[in-house]
Amino acid sequence: MPDATILGIESSCDETGAAVVRSGEQILSNVVASQIATHQPYGGVVPELASREHLKAMVPVVRQALVEAGQSYQSVDAIAVTQGPGLAGALLVGISYAKALAFALDKPLIAVNHLEGHIHAVLLEQRQNASEELEFPVLALVVSGGHTHLYLAQRKENLWAYRNIGHTRDDAAGEAFDKVAKLLGLGYPGGPIIDRLAPHGDPQAVKFQTSQIKHADRRDHKHARVEDGGAHFDFSYSGIKTAVLRYVEIQNLKPAIEARRAALAGVEKPTIENVRGLCDRQTLNLVASFQRTMVNDLVSKTLAAAREYDVQTLFVSGGVAANQELRNAFEHEAGMQGLPVFFPARALSTDNAAMIAAAAFPKFLRQEFVGMDFSAEAGMALR
Ligand code: KG4
Ligand code: ZN
Repeated sequence: MPDATILGIESSCDETGAAVVRSGEQILSNVVASQIATHQPYGGVVPELASREHLKAMVPVVRQALVEAGQSYQSVDAIAVTQGPGLAGALLVGISYAKALAFALDKPLIAVNHLEGHIHAVLLEQRQNASEELEFPVLALVVSGGHTHLYLAQRKENLWAYRNIGHTRDDAAGEAFDKVAKLLGLGYPGGPIIDRLAPHGDPQAVKFQTSQIKHADRRDHKHARVEDGGAHFDFSYSGIKTAVLRYVEIQNLKPAIEARRAALAGVEKPTIENVRGLCDRQTLNLVASFQRTMVNDLVSKTLAAAREYDVQTLFVSGGVAANQELRNAFEHEAGMQGLPVFFPARALSTDNAAMIAAAAFPKFLRQEFVGMDFSAEAGMALR
């Protein structure tokens, strides 16, 4: 197999990323400029601000990635960039810069689906740690701020093919973590904060339920029946957010939440200890119970899909895959089914460009290049 050094660029949401990866395996550099501080006051990503931050960060981030990798603009073999899904304006910043580089340097340009990137983030880790060959079919759960999607993945030499067998009907799992954290005045982004607060509470204290979806999604009825012809395993997380809100109202937690929000606003960079110090037992129990419910739902639905489709390997990727309780639960439950489960390294769970450069390598081998007329696809599907 020929070697290739690929420069990857990622700008689909609120991280500006550039990375250099050799042959889909060896990360030579992986630079991520986070916009958390920009979006924090709003408790969520503001698209216009995201585009502006990408514009500021893109050139220095790419330059740093090349320097750290000991590479130059000329020495890389190809340029890969996220085409979608994501925020259109944010995607365009990365795409425009990647096009300009490819044109000026006369290098091939590769368009990568962000979700395929998340799946290949697992491969970056798995190739380093697994002694055995990967067994197919693989079931991949991509669980992030924008997605809670299940894909069956197959590989024929350098051609990867994906089939979606489940998705969220409303909020993504990461979105639920972020919204609940915002509601409780814990800060942004919510996932990492809840992850670290949850071990201090009782996960059995509050009983929550998640929706069990039996009927087909009318919006993609045709897809479900005609294209897939198989069972679907869908998720729904807007209900649990409402249940947390109802609990807050019934238990009259609002004054304490407002006090916490005001106290945290006065701290420049709140640490998890600052946040924890502002949470009483009831709040910690609520956070732990919310996380336990989310974890149980993600794990049980994913493993039900794994049984139905008789898969050989499980991948869990995307920002929420950084969650410790989710990792422990998947390892335990998949282990009981004798199913090998792989996660990306924590730094590769959330958005980064190394996963984009890695996913581009099989496309490089197939010479699947794009022309200067390709554009962002905000709602891009993975096939
Ligand atoms: O993959 P990602 O960086 O961006 C998207 O493609 O959406 O995922 C970001 C999401 C956010 O919702 C964030 O709260 C969540 O992943 N997240 C976590 C953790 N770290 C990030 N959720 C739970 N536990 C974590 N440790
Ligand atoms: Zn992502």
